[in-house]
Amino acid sequence: MARVEPLKLGMIGGGEGAFIGAVHRMAAGIDGDWRLVAGAFSTDAGRNTRTGDLLGLDAGRVYGSIDELLSAERALPEGERIDAVAIVTPNHLHAPMSIAALDAGFHVICEKPMSLNLEEAQAIAAAAERSGRHYALAFTYSGYPLVEEARARVARGDFGAIRLVQVEYSQGWLSSALDREGNRQAEWRTDPARAGLGGCLGDIGTHAFQLAEHVSGLQVESLCADLTTHVPGRRLDDDVSVLLRFAGGARGVLKATQVAAGDENGLRLRIHGEKGGLDWAQMEPNTLTLRWLDRPAELVRTGGPGMAETTLGRIRTPAGHPEGYIEAFANIYRSVAATIRGGDTVAARGAAAWFPGTADGVRTMAFVEAVVANAASDQKWSGLAG
Ligand SMILES: NC(=O)c1ccc[n+]([C@@H]2O[C@H](COP(=O)([O-])OP(=O)(O)OC[C@H]3O[C@@H](n4cnc5c(N)ncnc54)[C@H](O)[C@@H]3O)[C@@H](O)[C@H]2O)c1
Repeated sequence: MARVEPLKLGMIGGGEGAFIGAVHRMAAGIDGDWRLVAGAFSTDAGRNTRTGDLLGLDAGRVYGSIDELLSAERALPEGERIDAVAIVTPNHLHAPMSIAALDAGFHVICEKPMSLNLEEAQAIAAAAERSGRHYALAFTYSGYPLVEEARARVARGDFGAIRLVQVEYSQGWLSSALDREGNRQAEWRTDPARAGLGGCLGDIGTHAFQLAEHVSGLQVESLCADLTTHVPGRRLDDDVSVLLRFAGGARGVLKATQVAAGDENGLRLRIHGEKGGLDWAQMEPNTLTLRWLDRPAELVRTGGPGMAETTLGRIRTPAGHPEGYIEAFANIYRSVAATIRGGDTVAARGAAAWFPGTADGVRTMAFVEAVVANAASDQKWSGLAG
C-alpha cells in the first residue's frame, strides 16, 4: 500500500485555558489521519504563542488572526498548506470564520451551534455549496458507535412505525451565577452577542434536537416551547422544554437544562415504535437498551455481536474496553478525512463516511428560531422554517 500523508489541519481558537480545542486536537490525532500544523489559537498574543509552542508547531505557522492564517496558508504550495480549518471559538465567530475559510478554498470542521441565527446558517450552507469544500459540524454525539447502531435499527424498521421520540440533555453547571464570577466558558455562553438567540437552547438544546432527528430519521414539523431563565440577571435561557410534532405523526418531548443542580452531561434518547423501543444515554454510551412488546429486553454493547456495518467503522477497541467522548469526536474527523480523500485508505479500514454538516446545522438553527419565537408568543404551535 502506498504511503499516506496525514491531512493538514489549522485551528482557530483552542488556546491556553480553552475547553473544546484540546478535545479536537486529541480526536484529530487518534487515527493518524490528521496533523495539526498551523493555528490562530487566541486573540491574546502570549496565549497564542504559548499554545503553538506547547503543541510543537513551527512558530511561522502560529498566526495572529484567522485572516493572516488563511492568506499565508493559501500562499504555500499545495501539499504544504493546510487542507482544513477547525473552528473552535465562541459561537459569534462561527459564521464569518467558516465563510472566510470556505471561500479561501479550505474544508471546515466547525463547532456547534452552527451560527447565531438561521440567516447565518443559510449563508454558511451557501458558501459550502459554492466553494465545493466540505463543511462538518461537531454534533459529537452522532459520532458514537451505538448512536449509529440505534439509527440503523430504526431505519431498517426493527421497531415498526415510530410513535415517540423523547430526548433530554440535563446539565447542572450553570445553576449559580458562574457567568458573573469569571468562568470563561460561562461568560460568553450567557451573552446574546456571542452565544446567539439561545442560551441553553443553542448550547445543548441543539445537540438534543440534532440527535433526535438524526436517529429517528424524522423531521420535526411543529413545536410548542417554554423557555425559562432561573438564575437572576442571566440574559439568556438556562432551561428549555419543547413538545415536538414530527412529520408522519410521531410525537416527542425535548428537555434541555443547565440548572439541574448536580447533573453532569445527562443526554438521553428514547425512541419507541409500534413493536418496541430503544434507550441510549451518553454517560453509559457503550450500552444500547432495546425493549420489546413481546419478548425480554436486550442489551446491545459496543463491539459485541450484531452490529450494523456502519457501526463497525466507528469502533476502535474490542468489546468491554470503553470508548467515549473523544472517540465519538474522532469518528467525525475520520469520516471527514475519508470523504476528502475520496474513499481511499481510511474508507478501506471501514469508516462510514457520514458526518454532520450543513443540513443538520440549518435544521438546528431553524429549531432555535422556532423555539424562541414560539416561547415568546401566545401561539400554541409553530412550524419550522425550511
Ligand atoms: N461539540 C461539543 O460537544 C462542544 C462542547 C463544548 C463546546 N463546544 C463549542 O465549542 C466552541 C468553544 O467552546 P469552549 O467551551 O471551548 O470555549 P472557550 O471559551 O473555552 O474557548 C474559546 C477559545 O476561542 C478563542 N478565541 C476567541 N476569539 C478568537 C479569535 N477571534 N481568534 C482566535 N481565537 C479566538 C479563545 O481565546 C479561546 O481559546 C463553542 O462554540 C461551543 O458551543 C462544543
